[in-house]
Amino acid sequence: MEAHILTIIYLLASVTFITGLKMLSNPATARNGNLIAAAGMGLAIFGTIFLYVGSDGKPLGNYEWIFGGLLIGAVVGTLAAKKVKMTAMPEMVSLFNGMGGACAALISIVEFDHLWHAEGGDPVFMDRMKLLIILLGLIIGSVSFSGSMIAWGKLNGKVKDFAFRGQQSLNNIALLRVAGLATWMVVGLPGDMYWYFHVLLLLALLYGVSFVMPIGGADMPVVISLLNSFTGVAAACGGFLYDNQVMLTGGILVGAAGTLLTILMCKAMNRSLINVLIGSFGGGAAAGAAQSASGGTYKEINVSDAAMVMAYANKVMIVPGYGLAVAQAQHVCHELEKTLEARGVEVKYAIHPVAGRMPGHMNVLLAESDVSYDKLLEMEQANDEFKTTDVVLVLGANDVVNPAAKTDPASPIYGMPILEVEEAKMVIVNKRSMKPGYAGIENQLFFQPRTSMLFGDAKKALQDLLAEVKSI
Ligand code: TAP
Repeated sequence: MEAHILTIIYLLASVTFITGLKMLSNPATARNGNLIAAAGMGLAIFGTIFLYVGSDGKPLGNYEWIFGGLLIGAVVGTLAAKKVKMTAMPEMVSLFNGMGGACAALISIVEFDHLWHAEGGDPVFMDRMKLLIILLGLIIGSVSFSGSMIAWGKLNGKVKDFAFRGQQSLNNIALLRVAGLATWMVVGLPGDMYWYFHVLLLLALLYGVSFVMPIGGADMPVVISLLNSFTGVAAACGGFLYDNQVMLTGGILVGAAGTLLTILMCKAMNRSLINVLIGSFGGGAAAGAAQSASGGTYKEINVSDAAMVMAYANKVMIVPGYGLAVAQAQHVCHELEKTLEARGVEVKYAIHPVAGRMPGHMNVLLAESDVSYDKLLEMEQANDEFKTTDVVLVLGANDVVNPAAKTDPASPIYGMPILEVEEAKMVIVNKRSMKPGYAGIENQLFFQPRTSMLFGDAKKALQDLLAEVKSI
């Protein structure tokens, strides 16, 4: 009876995962989608704890360990999620993803031990299929764990990019070695399998490090998404192992979603996955590069003039970028939008798919300050509207409005679709200096005749703009 109820629970949980994932694709439903999927996960966990009955007819047991782990994980997870700054979100995702990979690898370690002792330490009688799944979970989970830890270190600046000539070939050889050893273990069932298993664990952990190490620090969000898909596949291996449908569904969904997200991010940057993996793009050296290599001149605008042109405009388009998130200026930005609208100005937001540092970064940021979703224009819609826009206010965005993506075939971002803000009658760019953004390259937009620079921290600049507009 318990087994049937548990099957129904797993089915329900799988439905919540799929529904939740679907709802996550729209900012208006994303929050509820997350809650629905989390509720399904809770149901599956507690259903397993209380209703699972083993082949020996015994319940799960070990409750003090299970609830102890749940309590520690829940407290740490809640505190971390509450404390994390929006801009440090990719870091946290990386850390949590690494934990998922570690769990999958630990399952393989425990199950290998069971299999080993069940056969009295003689691998000849081992079930090859089971062994294959255990080894797959071990390799993918370990790579995901150590790779995510390096990605986490790179994002918080503790680990620097490290690449040398021939590293890619060495990495490929290391991967072949890992795959070769695993294949040989499954096919040959060698007597000293126990020893080889631990060598394989070490090699997979090392491969995770050497795989992520040379990738440009700035490309970490793409790498994290890729590693996330690895964790999904590793969890699905656990689902096969335990014949557990909900683990299988969850793992496959994470694997597929992570892969699709990786592809979409690469597409939005107009780069291939290979280019991301070996391109060392936007690494530490590029950040903070010198300004205006071309020696172009730019003009500045002061707050009162900027406020004046915006207050008397018919249509203002705001382009949010990474700097807006850093400055945590989304609330005052929304205030400015409401004040301008009260004066009869039409205000909209142009959202680039890879603005910021994580997928949907700008949508989440603006949703935090209750900006209405129908004001958010996707890139294609926004590009259709720039010609009829009086003033574009670029807030801490840089690469996503760089015309070099269209005009300079030598530029590393050439081909990346951008927000064509230069089509508007006037562009005001707010940032703190002439320093480049993520890609580490100069932006010709800043030197164009219709562009004016409004220097300063986004929050301070917006507060000043707001006060000026109110006083007009
Ligand atoms: P960026 O090109 O990184 O430019 C951000 C700008 O914000 C910087 O030039 C910086 O200039 C300014 N800034 C920083 N702090 C500020 C503050 N407190 N106040 C005002 N301005 C501030 O950002 P973007 O235009 O959003 O483009 C995102 C980039 O990240 C793209 O190249 C994209 O390919 C890449 N990327 C995104 C993702 C995802 S999924 N979103 C993933 C991987 C890579 P100052 O220092 O002069 O202030």
